Amino acid sequence: MLPVAGNTASVVQPASRNGDTLPLCLSPFSLRGVAFANRLVVSPMAQYMCTDGMPGDWHATHLGMHALGGAGLVVAEMTCVSPEARITPGCPGLWNDAQTAAWRRITDAVHAHTPARIGVQIGHAGRKGSTRPLWEGFSKPLAEGNWPILAPSPIPWSEANQVPREATAEDLAAIAAQHAAAARRALLAGFDLIELHFAHGYLVSSFLSPLSNRRVDGFGGSLANRLRFPLMVLRAVRASVPDAMPVTARLSCSDWIEGGFTPDDAVQVAIALRDAGCDLIVASSGQTDPQSRPTAGAMWQVPFAGRIRAEAAVATMAVGGVTEPSHAEGIVAEDAADMVAVGRAALYDPWWARHWSHALGAPLPWPLPYAYGGHFARRHVLVHRHAEGRPRS
Ligand SMILES: Cc1cc2nc3c(=O)[nH]c(=O)nc-3n(C[C@H](O)[C@H](O)[C@H](O)COP(=O)(O)O)c2cc1C
Repeated sequence: MLPVAGNTASVVQPASRNGDTLPLCLSPFSLRGVAFANRLVVSPMAQYMCTDGMPGDWHATHLGMHALGGAGLVVAEMTCVSPEARITPGCPGLWNDAQTAAWRRITDAVHAHTPARIGVQIGHAGRKGSTRPLWEGFSKPLAEGNWPILAPSPIPWSEANQVPREATAEDLAAIAAQHAAAARRALLAGFDLIELHFAHGYLVSSFLSPLSNRRVDGFGGSLANRLRFPLMVLRAVRASVPDAMPVTARLSCSDWIEGGFTPDDAVQVAIALRDAGCDLIVASSGQTDPQSRPTAGAMWQVPFAGRIRAEAAVATMAVGGVTEPSHAEGIVAEDAADMVAVGRAALYDPWWARHWSHALGAPLPWPLPYAYGGHFARRHVLVHRHAEGRPRS
C-alpha cells in the first residue's frame, strides 16, 4: 500500500523505489487528489517580508530553496484573509488579485523545477494582530499605524496589546466568507493544499480555548459552541474548493494551562473537523496564552499527533523538535503521524530532507543541474567514511 487517503488513518506499509524498500518517511503519500513524493514537510514559517500583503522575491527565493531541499510538501507561512487579519504589516495576504498573481509566480516556479507540492496556511490573527515582526519583540504592538483588532472576547493578549473588540455574529460570518474567498484565490494561485490556521492563539484558535473565549452566546461556553466558528470557517472553505483539494487544519492541542484547552478536547475537535471534511490535523500546541509554559523538547508534540490519529481516525502531521532522520522515520513507523514537518532545523539546513535521505540510505534524486554536485556529495561521504576506516559501501 502506498498512499493513505484523506480522512482515514491506517497503518503505513513500506513502499519501494527501483525495487529497494524505502524508509517510511520517504514513501509517497496522498490526500484527496494530491500525491506527495514523500512525507517530509517544511512547516509554515512567518517571514514578515511583505508590503501590502504582496509576496515577492524573498518568498520566491525562500520557498523555492525549501522546495529544492527535497521535502514532499512546503507550506507557505500564515497568509491573511484581509488587511485587518494580519499579524504584522509584513504578513502576506490572499485578499486581492495582485497577491494571487504574485503567489502564482512562486507556485509555478516550484512546480516547474521541483517535485515538491506547495501549500498555503490561511488565517486571521485575531487578538494577536497589529503587532511587530518577531525580531522586534514577541507579539509587541506596532509603534504606530495600529489597526483595530477583534476576538471572541474583549481580552487583550497582554497588558501591552490593544483590547480587541468582541466579534459579532455578522463579523464571524464575514470572516468565514473571507476565508472561503482566500481559499478560492489559493486555488487560482496554484497551491496544492490549504492549511487552516486554527492554532497558536490566532482568531480561530482563540475561539477554541476557554481561556480566550468567554462568550455567553452560541459561540462560547461548551466545546460544541466554541467549535461553531471553526466549523463555519472549515465548511465555507471546503465548499469553495474542488473535492480533489486537500484542506488541513493546524491545532494547538493543549493550552498547557490548568483550565485551558486539553488534548482530550483536541481529539473531539479533530473528530468534528474530520466529519466536516478536514483531511489532516497538524498537531501543534501552545502560544494561546502568554502564561502558557509548554514542556518542549525532542519530538515534544508527537504524542498529540499519535493520539488524534488513533482516536479520531484522521491523518495527522507531527511537528516540533523533529531534528533527526531517525525521529522522522520513527514517527511514521510508530503510526504517530502520516507526515512530519520540520521548522527551525529546515531554516538551519535547507537541504535537511536530502541529508536525511542519505542518512536513511535512500538518497532523493538531485535536480539535474545539481546531479554532478550530488555525485561530489556522495564521494565526499565515501571519502569521509574511508578516512574513518569504515568500509566503502
Ligand atoms: C520563524 C518562525 C516562524 C513561524 N511561523 C509560523 C507560521 O506562520 N504559522 C505556523 O503555524 N507556525 C509557525 N511557526 C511554527 C513552526 O511552523 C513550527 O510549528 C515550530 O517551529 C515547531 O517546529 P520546529 O521545532 O521544527 O521548529 C514558526 C516558527 C518559526 C521558527
